[in-house]
Amino acid sequence: MEKKILALACDHGGFELKNEMKALLDKKGVEYVDFGCDTAESVNYPDYAHKLCKAIQDGECYRGILFCGTGIGMCMAANKHHGIRAAVCSDTFSARLTRMHNDANVLCLGGRVVGVGLAWDIVESFVDTEFEGGRHSTRVDMVMAFEESENKEC
Ligand code: RB5
Repeated sequence: MEKKILALACDHGGFELKNEMKALLDKKGVEYVDFGCDTAESVNYPDYAHKLCKAIQDGECYRGILFCGTGIGMCMAANKHHGIRAAVCSDTFSARLTRMHNDANVLCLGGRVVGVGLAWDIVESFVDTEFEGGRHSTRVDMVMAFEESENKEC
């Protein structure tokens, strides 16, 4: 069976939450690669979003989780990358549905928005839920086609 390795990355705003999630992922037996940052010192979130997205694009990791203060900056940066479908989630329903309907491959969490307990429920929903396919595939394909048509009006 194909090895499924999760990618993790954060800025200073998400550093603590990333560490909390790493401990819980270890307990759950989920394999991951941590692309930094490695301290709580101020850094620029696009650098870390880029590292994580590259790992997914290269096939090193199958999905990823980005952490910053709100999750929003990371999500904006991630969605500029080809093949990336990133979603900020602050509730489990959205985390589950963005896997089932949007085939999101990157989850973005706000370390200043959600507490550890809720964040873990969101992470588990994201990791454990599969894409439903079917009619949702058509829609996801339509979204991804925008990447190929940047010069056209949309
Ligand atoms: C850093 O202060 C903060 O702007 C960043 O973590 C993130 O929330 C950006 O969207």
